[in-house]
Amino acid sequence: MKDVRTLGIVGSGQMGSGIGQVAAQAGYSVILYDITQPIVDRAIENLHRGMVRLTERGKLSEEEQQAILGRFRGTANMNDLRDADLIIEAAPEDYELKKSIFQQLDTIARPEVILASNTSSISLTQLGAVTKRPEKVIGMHFMNPPVVMQLVEIVRGLATGEDTLQVVDALAKKMGKITILAKDYAGFIVNRILLPMINEAIYALYEGVGGVTDIDQGMKLGTNQPMGPLALADLIGLDTCLAVLERLHHGLGDDKYRPCPLLRNYVAAGYLGRKAGKGFYDYGKA
Ligand SMILES: NC(=O)c1ccc[n+]([C@@H]2O[C@H](COP(=O)([O-])OP(=O)(O)OC[C@H]3O[C@@H](n4cnc5c(N)ncnc54)[C@H](O)[C@@H]3O)[C@@H](O)[C@H]2O)c1
Repeated sequence: MKDVRTLGIVGSGQMGSGIGQVAAQAGYSVILYDITQPIVDRAIENLHRGMVRLTERGKLSEEEQQAILGRFRGTANMNDLRDADLIIEAAPEDYELKKSIFQQLDTIARPEVILASNTSSISLTQLGAVTKRPEKVIGMHFMNPPVVMQLVEIVRGLATGEDTLQVVDALAKKMGKITILAKDYAGFIVNRILLPMINEAIYALYEGVGGVTDIDQGMKLGTNQPMGPLALADLIGLDTCLAVLERLHHGLGDDKYRPCPLLRNYVAAGYLGRKAGKGFYDYGKA
């Protein structure tokens, strides 16, 4: 297959734009796609602001900043992704949505192009099966925020080919990441362990065992975690947390993963965490 030079990214939210930044910093050209031009433009403006801050702090030179931003092309036309050598999907955590995106990408991308998903929990085997290239479908699960976090969890679907695995592993490493390999079961490794802890923290709040700061301080200072589970849930996005828990619950068929009713209420109210300006904590304007 052709060398990977241009990455296509589907979804310019917190993960898609962060993955795009890491890729552009590693020298790749990036086509950033989202459903409307204003959404993509806003993501590129945010990236620009972030780069300016890095330049002001002396972490990037003016020339590097310009070069990185110059590698981005934002679009609301999915057909533009035909120029990509590998595509990473980072749209919301919804199986029906991702299924339809993978079906569309399968018709747009060249046949040899790998279609990776940044999904936190959805089956890559199922996503692969809706395409004509299941051997080229794989999970490339970056952590949040992608620019800071070192790990990429690679998830191999039942039909994912060995070549696909090697290409994605090499790509993640060129992006400066450390990889682990997980089998394709709901939540893979990281979220299978992390989300039950976050859910239990929400249950502790729901049942009045402790307040938000008590629970977070308890886990930070008592178990040496860099942030408390409720603050982490706000960072991840409460809609994403709920979607992952639903997948764990249904995918593994065990009630120990049932999402806390308080989490459902927060999502129903639109309190989605940092990105909405309100979750378990208040962040002012979104
Ligand atoms: N938030 C996290 O901590 C985290 C960590 C690892 C992986 N993930 C996964 O990454 C993915 C994205 O999560 P996020 O936190 O960036 O969400 P987000 O809500 O910040 O961004 C999602 C983006 O997808 C766009 N979108 C919606 N429908 C689309 C479509 N049909 N085609 C293309 N784009 C579309 C939205 O406009 C939005 O910009 C999810 O699968 C999530 O599970 C999230």
